[in-house]
This record gives sequence, C-alpha cells and structure tokens, in this order.
Amino acid sequence: MPRLFHIISIVGARPNFMKVAPIGEELALESTSFRSTIVHTGQHYDSTMSDVFFDQLDVADPDVNLNVGSASHAQQTAAIMSAFEPVLLEWQPDLVLVVGDVNSTLACALVAAKLGVKVAHVEAGLRSFDRSMPEEINRVVTDQISDILFVTERGAEQNLRREGIASEKIYFVGNVLIDTLLSKLERARALHRREIEPDGDSGYAVLTLHRPSNVDDRRVFERLMSAVAEIGKELPVVFPVHPRTRLAVEASPTAAQLLQDGRLELVKPLGYLQFLGLMDRSHLVLTDSGGIQEETTVLGIPCLTLRDTTERPITVSEGTNQIVGSHPERILEGWRRVKTAARAPRTPELWDGKAAHRIVQILRSFSEAHGPGSQNP
Ligand code: UD1
Repeated sequence: MPRLFHIISIVGARPNFMKVAPIGEELALESTSFRSTIVHTGQHYDSTMSDVFFDQLDVADPDVNLNVGSASHAQQTAAIMSAFEPVLLEWQPDLVLVVGDVNSTLACALVAAKLGVKVAHVEAGLRSFDRSMPEEINRVVTDQISDILFVTERGAEQNLRREGIASEKIYFVGNVLIDTLLSKLERARALHRREIEPDGDSGYAVLTLHRPSNVDDRRVFERLMSAVAEIGKELPVVFPVHPRTRLAVEASPTAAQLLQDGRLELVKPLGYLQFLGLMDRSHLVLTDSGGIQEETTVLGIPCLTLRDTTERPITVSEGTNQIVGSHPERILEGWRRVKTAARAPRTPELWDGKAAHRIVQILRSFSEAHGPGSQNP
C-alpha cells in the first residue's frame, strides 16, 4: 500500500483553532490520501484560551503538545522552534500546514523550511504595512518561506506578488474562519448564554481588546476605556477579557473606575460558540482583533476596529468595518456613523464555507506531484 501524504497542522494560540478545524475535517474525509496530525505548541494554555475550542469545534486532540507557554517574543519563538524540531525529525512529514500570523505560525514554518519540509500557509498575504505589529513580521517572514500560499482576499494575492512570490504558489481559496462560522452558527444561536447579555430591549455592544499597542500602554488603554464608557451610556457593553488585558485593568485605577461607573460588564474569555452567539445578537462590536473584523462582516454587525490599520481591507470596502484607531473622537464619530448611515454590506468573494474543501483539493494535487512515489518529492 502506498505511504500516505503526511500533513502536520500547527495550532498554538486562540485564533488558530477555528482555522484548522475545517481543514482537519476535510482531511479526514480523504483519509485514503492523507495522514493528518496536529501539533499544539502550547502558546495558549488556559482552558478558556485553548481546551474549550477543541471541545466546541470538534478538532481532533493534538497528537503532541509542546507546552511552551508564555514568554517574550524571542524566547517563545525559540522555545517553539527547539521543541518542534525533534518532532519533525522523528515524524518526517511531507508538509507542515500553518495558519494565521501568531508566533507559533512563524516558528514552526521556520523549522520546517530549514529541514526542507514543504510549508503551506493558510491566510497568507494579509498586510497591515505596520511593522511595529509583531504579527506583521510573522506574516511577511512566513510567506517568504512557504511553498503554498492560500489567500482569503484578492488584495492579499497582489501583496504577495509585490514581495516577489511566484504566482503559481498562490491560491485564492476563500476564508476558513468563515467556514467554521457558517457551520457553527446554528449551534451558537441555539445556545442560550443570555446570562451574560444585558437585560432590556436597547441591545448591547461587545468589546474585545488584546493588542499590546492598546493594552500595554496605560494612557492608550485608559483613552480607549473612556470612549467605550461613553458608548456604554447608550448601549451596555459586554467585555470578555483576554488575560493580557485583565492585567491592564488591574493596573489602572482609572480604567477600573470607568468600568465600575459605566455600563460595562467584564466576563472571562468565552468559548467559540458563546462568543459567536454573543456577537450575532449584538448591535455593535468594538475590537482590535483581526478575525472578528471578518466575522462581523459576514454576520452584518457594525464593527469599529480600534487600530490605525487593518490587514483585512475587504472588511472595510465590502463589509461592516470602520478603522477608528484609539482616539475617543474618532471612535465616537464611527459610532455616530453606525447610527446614521445604513450600509448594505456584501459577503466577500468565496467566503462561502468551502475554503477548506478547496484547500484540501489543492493539497491533493500537490501531494500527487510532490508526495511519496512522485517524480519530484
Ligand atoms: C497572541 C498572538 C496574537 C493573537 C492573540 C489571540 C502573537 C505574537 N500574538 O497574542 O496575534 O491575536 O494571541 O489571543 O503570537 N496568557 C495567559 N494564558 C494563556 C495565554 C496567554 O494567561 O493561555 C497571558 C500571559 O500573561 C501572556 C499574555 O497572556 O504573557 C500574552 O499571551 P501571548 O500568547 O504572548 O500573546 P497574545 O497577546 O495572546
């Protein structure tokens, strides 16, 4: 019997789980062609940041957990690389599949590329053009060393070409994050976690914040909280708090006071289904996340992105997103626009729930050309 084409998929941090889930499902359907294993780097380790996603997304348990935990960027990246290298040497896969732009993405892509193992990058080509974002460095470097680049929007393809990536390595396949959203939306809607949603008919907003540039600088963080407290006078705000942000709240008496005075409700990080349901029923989302900009676009919920740039411009040109930075005037101006200007968002091209299927079909052709038994392994 011919050897199966072995793909290791990497997960590490919260936004990775929902991207790998649909690819894993598609690979399982092709079990006569592929062997699929999962390596969890352990970059995120709290049960609310990791385990709950495995339970809710039906992702297979990781075959190995590298348990690297939190550290500085250099230390974390180095720890992942040192721990992943022996796994790769032992397992000798045909391809390593990485998603998104977190430190685990870059670290594992680097190890694979240096050992001559093919790398596929899902969600390639997104650029904020802001190199002060750690994720931007991860994106640029991962794309340079990847052999197959799957993109979610056409602009990403242009970014890659500009950086000298050969066209034949790039595939526009749609968005795996949206595959997961569409397949889980009904379950999320059926799940009544109304105890975290404010009472009354006025509706509510959802806030998420975790970027170092927003939460580690106390002045910026307090500025943001004052703008959110202002919106809270009109719409109560539910705020699931990332561990990094929890530290910022605890360190700032001003933020704590604003939270106490305003209609802001802090809750712990939520599971995927709870958060999706919460967003789906909300009137407004304020966030500095990347993926949430895409999810609100598909749900048709207005989104104010609390950053100066986005690497996902299609969420602005076609979706519900406004980039409003961290200054209260701009945030409140964005909120006024939400209230006055009715926009008819469009769902971006190929965000149709079939991205993972396309990816696996392309991987199958790749495996036939480069896998065990082929002429060009
Ligand atoms: C990481 C990603 C970011 C992604 C985010 C989603 C990088 C560079 N950043 O940022 O792109 O949007 O995940 O959450 O990879 N912590 C815990 N428990 C955990 C994980 C983290 O308490 O399970 C705390 C630790 O204090 C840690 C801090 O959160 O130092 C930050 O975690 P880290 O993984 O370094 O970065 P994130 O800010 O989560």
